[in-house]
Amino acid sequence: MAELVGAFAASHAPLIARDWHLLSDARREQITAAFRELGRRMAASRADVIIELSPDHWVNFFLDNLPSICIGVGDTHDDPPEPFMKAFPYRPVLGHAALGQHIAATALARDFEPSISHHLKLDHGFCIPLWRMELPSLPRVVPIIVNDLEPPMISIRRCFAWGKLLADAIASFPEKNLRVAILATGGLSHSIGEPDMGAIDETFDHDCIRAFTNGNEAALVDFLEARMAAAGNGTHEVRNWVIAHAAMGNHGFDLIDYRAVPEVYVGCGFASWRMS
Ligand SMILES: [Fe+2]
Repeated sequence: MAELVGAFAASHAPLIARDWHLLSDARREQITAAFRELGRRMAASRADVIIELSPDHWVNFFLDNLPSICIGVGDTHDDPPEPFMKAFPYRPVLGHAALGQHIAATALARDFEPSISHHLKLDHGFCIPLWRMELPSLPRVVPIIVNDLEPPMISIRRCFAWGKLLADAIASFPEKNLRVAILATGGLSHSIGEPDMGAIDETFDHDCIRAFTNGNEAALVDFLEARMAAAGNGTHEVRNWVIAHAAMGNHGFDLIDYRAVPEVYVGCGFASWRMS
C-alpha cells in the first residue's frame, strides 16, 4: 500500500519569479532559505509522488468552465506557460495517472464530485514551489486544482473533508511502498486586482499560523470562515493549507518561515507537518 510521508505548504507569489531580479539581496536570501528548508524536509520524506494542491490562475479554466476541484490524471503535465516561468527546469512534469484516478474514484465512492483532467498545464502556483525547493530530483506530481479564485468556493469544512479523503485514498492505493507527500501552495494573505492591491494582513497571517499550530478543527473553521475573506482575495488559497492539515490529522503544523513581503504583494508562509 501507499504511505503518506509528509505534508508541506508554501506561498507561490508570481513576483517571486517575475521580479526576482528586482528584489534586494537580503530578500532573495530570505526567500531562498525558506524554500531550501522546505525542500530539505521534502527530500527527507523520500516521497515518490507529490499530491499538489493549488488554484489554477486562469490557465486551464475560466468562467465558462470552472470546476471547484479538478484532479490531474495525466501521465505528464504541461509546464507553466507564463513568460516569467521560462527557466522552470522540469519539462514536462511527470504525473501518476493511477494514483490520480484512484483519488477520483475514492472521492466519487464517498459522494464527492471532483472533475478530472487528462491534460493539465501547471502554472506558477504549482511550479514556483516545485522549482524553488531545489529538490535533487522531482517526484511525480498528481495536481489537484482547487478553485480558490472565484466565488462560490468550497467551504472550509469541505476542505477538512477533502484532506481526510486524501489520507484515506493514499492509504488504500495498492501500489506497494509508494511514498506520497502532499504540497499545498498559495496564501497567506494577499490582495490582487482589488482596490487595496498589495495589502498584506499580517494580523490575519499571525492568527492563521496560530490556529494551524493549535490544530483545533472547529476553531480553524470558525477563524477562516470569519476572517479569510476580509484578508484579501488571494487569501482564499489558505484552503489548500487546510486540506494538507486535515490529511495529517490536524496536528504537527511546524512553521518554517513567515514574513510579509510587500515587494511580491504576499504574506509569504512556509510550513511542514510533523509525522506523528
Ligand atoms: Fe495564487
